[in-house]
Amino acid sequence: MERTLNDAMDYARTFLHTGKVATYIPELAKGDSEQLGACLITTDGEVYRSGDWQQEFTIQSISKTITLIMALQVAGYEKVFSKVGVEPTGDAFNSLVRLETKTAHPLNPMINAGAIATASCCMDVKDPFGEFLELTRRLCRRDTIHLNEAVFQSEKKAGMRNRSMAYLMEDDNILEYDAEDVVDLYFRMCSLSVNAEDLANYALVLAHNGVDPRSGEHLLDDWIVRIVKTLMVTCGMYDASGEFAMKVGIPAKSGVGGGIMGTVERKMGLAVFNPALDPKGNSVGAYRVMEYLSHYLGLHYFSGSNSMI
Ligand code: DON
Repeated sequence: MERTLNDAMDYARTFLHTGKVATYIPELAKGDSEQLGACLITTDGEVYRSGDWQQEFTIQSISKTITLIMALQVAGYEKVFSKVGVEPTGDAFNSLVRLETKTAHPLNPMINAGAIATASCCMDVKDPFGEFLELTRRLCRRDTIHLNEAVFQSEKKAGMRNRSMAYLMEDDNILEYDAEDVVDLYFRMCSLSVNAEDLANYALVLAHNGVDPRSGEHLLDDWIVRIVKTLMVTCGMYDASGEFAMKVGIPAKSGVGGGIMGTVERKMGLAVFNPALDPKGNSVGAYRVMEYLSHYLGLHYFSGSNSMI
């Protein structure tokens, strides 16, 4: 396993020059496109780490999965899915276009507009960000996960498109709170600082339908995990979700900070980090590591008996 992971890293490194770090959030432009880190944790608790696995980066859109979990816990199924749909868009993650032309409801919780709507569903509690942070820390098994203040401020300053979506949705009565307050929460959720091991821990819990297989601790209801993993398959890689499903076949979620988190049913949690992004906003290096591992370990959800673990 260790050798396969290191081979996957070597394979991925040959593609890094094709990607570019995100610059639309100025603070993210400081990322180093050569950094590559990975962590893989199997059901029996074996942990495999490689490269820059300790490097912290902002969780960005991977937070959308945790926002959805919290929204379902706080507001329930009926309310959440009265505000956001479950269909892939085929549009860019920050697109506004469907809010006007199709339906006022964002098409799914994995795009920016959808995550702003689910963030608003998290606001019925007294301290929404505090509870979100606690939930993230529990799922990632690290109490010191914190907000990256510089990225948060940078997002806030550069977040005009997200604000536009929020105001449109406030106008259409999808948001039940002030648009500025909702985007403030959304920006904070995206600005948590994590590393590959944190996200691999979280992915392992998803792989076991909400239970941490190492401690036996029940962290999430299985109906919520089923919804989150389904949406990771259909929408987790934005307008590359179909291609990723075909080539890699691992329920996954990416973020413009360079992370991709993937969950292999009953087998492993994995997370890879590399800030070089492709034109759709997915990490070039992380995508390639997952592609390699899926191929050589037989992790595609339809690999059947070819699976090597
Ligand atoms: O709102 C944004 O644009 C960012 N905070 C998150 C976008 C993101 O991570 C899309 N990922 N590929």
